[in-house]
Amino acid sequence: MECGDYGRVIETLHALISELEHDHLLLEPNRLRQRIEALDRLENYLAFVPGADLHDRMKTLCADLEAANQRLYQSIRQEIQRGMGAERMLEWAPAVGSNGHAGQQVDGESYDYLDTLLSGVLQLDEPAPGIAELAAEMVFYQPTPARHIFELIGSAKIAERDVLIDLGSGLGHVPLLAAICTGARCIGIEWEAAYVDCAQRCANALNLANVTFVRQDAREADLSMGTMFYLYTPFTGAMLRDVLTRLRQEAVTREIRICTLGPCTPIIAREPWLEYVNVASIDQPALFRSV
Ligand SMILES: C[S@@+](CC[C@H](N)C(=O)[O-])C[C@H]1O[C@@H](n2cnc3c(N)ncnc32)[C@H](O)[C@@H]1O
Repeated sequence: MECGDYGRVIETLHALISELEHDHLLLEPNRLRQRIEALDRLENYLAFVPGADLHDRMKTLCADLEAANQRLYQSIRQEIQRGMGAERMLEWAPAVGSNGHAGQQVDGESYDYLDTLLSGVLQLDEPAPGIAELAAEMVFYQPTPARHIFELIGSAKIAERDVLIDLGSGLGHVPLLAAICTGARCIGIEWEAAYVDCAQRCANALNLANVTFVRQDAREADLSMGTMFYLYTPFTGAMLRDVLTRLRQEAVTREIRICTLGPCTPIIAREPWLEYVNVASIDQPALFRSV
């Protein structure tokens, strides 16, 4: 980089820091998104900044922004612990359009500030070491982006009378957020014991009595209570087929709804006993109901 270019970069950085230092509204609880974006920008440059003064100012700014985030997360956690978390969390739900989907469309599996919010609120522990090897056709853990969970809760209108079962629930983001926001009974079925322990500890710490996690192969789980099933492509091939057969048997006894995300969606869409309720794009959750 030319000397002049370098000078301009440092000047821009100075301008950014001054702007953030003077933006007192940035510490307001509802400016979480802007704080997270500012933190990302500052943290990108922190290691490369010359001079102790600039470096210290950036560190102080980061600490202030992080402290404001922690205050927000703690206050939401306290509301959840008192059984009043729904409103506080739903404030953050992206608006759902008339097509039943959130308006802003971002790449399907990318994460954003809502995931940072959810992680700050749930404060899940690190799973214990020694994650078991997955059998063939089991898909590795990856959480559903938070905006999709909000969308699922809103567009499927999950209510207290529902029983939501997440088949392959990982660390439990979907059942936990749905339990907080809807009061529905939520169950996570997960193969990996370490994930189940983390998710259950989180539910206990938040006093969520309406959510449970079970360490089990989804093919053997009791599905008889479910009104709504969620699958973020937890397995493929014959394993997915077996679970679909079991879901079809449940659908003989009552109407069920199935929400899917990821590559399992086109496979599930071919099931003749299911019809679309909602599907905007392959990148978003699709909702089906049994016919
Ligand atoms: C893509 S992740 C989805 C996690 C979670 N549902 C979410 O959306 O945040 C798939 C999860 O399914 C679990 N899984 C894979 N096969 C399973 C099976 N047969 N029974 C139960 N869980 C399984 C994996 O361990 C992994 O945690």
